[in-house]
Amino acid sequence: FARAAAPGPLAGRRALVTSGPTHEAIDPVRYIANRSSGKQGHAIAAALTALGAEVTLVSGPVALDDPDGVRVIRVESAREMLEACRAALPADVAVCAAAVADWRVEAAGQKIKKTAEGAAPSLSFTENPDILATLSAAGPERPALVVGFAAETENVLDHAAAKRARKGCDWILANDVSPATGTFGGDRNTLHLITADGMEDWPTLDKADAAARLADRIAHALTATAAA
Ligand code: CTP
Ligand code: CA
Repeated sequence: FARAAAPGPLAGRRALVTSGPTHEAIDPVRYIANRSSGKQGHAIAAALTALGAEVTLVSGPVALDDPDGVRVIRVESAREMLEACRAALPADVAVCAAAVADWRVEAAGQKIKKTAEGAAPSLSFTENPDILATLSAAGPERPALVVGFAAETENVLDHAAAKRARKGCDWILANDVSPATGTFGGDRNTLHLITADGMEDWPTLDKADAAARLADRIAHALTATAAA
């Protein structure tokens, strides 16, 4: 994969972005997933590309076109997403915007059939690997800047700050996804950026504008790192 380096503050930098949901198979015709259109993650990949970065976008199943100039790797499950992310290292920055399914089940080889008695099947869940936490703890392979999202429906800022600490990422974007906000599938997003320096409220923005703002902040942070 070779591309003429685009000019811009992120020229020569490599970025890894996750986007979309993951699908965890129950059987060949059914799956478990999180809600996610992929719009925010894809917009971030496009915005980083526009600033000159060489971007790998690891995406779960979405109904979106590939952003121009981005290397897109399509995956289904959380475990496939983690493997694709590992393979995409090294990177200067990683942004985990995917809505990864927290649990998977042991997939049945054949379609599970309804029974005459109407007995519902029961599923037994196993926790999936945490991609953001894994990248944050990737040792020498760790991207210099690791950014996560925190999708919350209540106590948004407290939960997000706790998540940043727990996962060991540098920045976290707190995202209120309660149904009244219309975030899921919508074109706008209200985010709060939490860094080691504190918390910044961002106005409600089109997902493309939120992505551009984040890309700009990333460019400044990486340039500051290089200068230090
Ligand atoms: N994430 C990930 N891999 C997972 C779960 C989450 O990479 N298996 C990432 C998401 O992409 C996001 C961040 O972790 O950047 C937070 O995801 P979220 O679902 O809000 O947090 P969880 O730690 O899964 O906690 P919970 O769902 O219980 O709130
Ligand atoms: Ca989760």
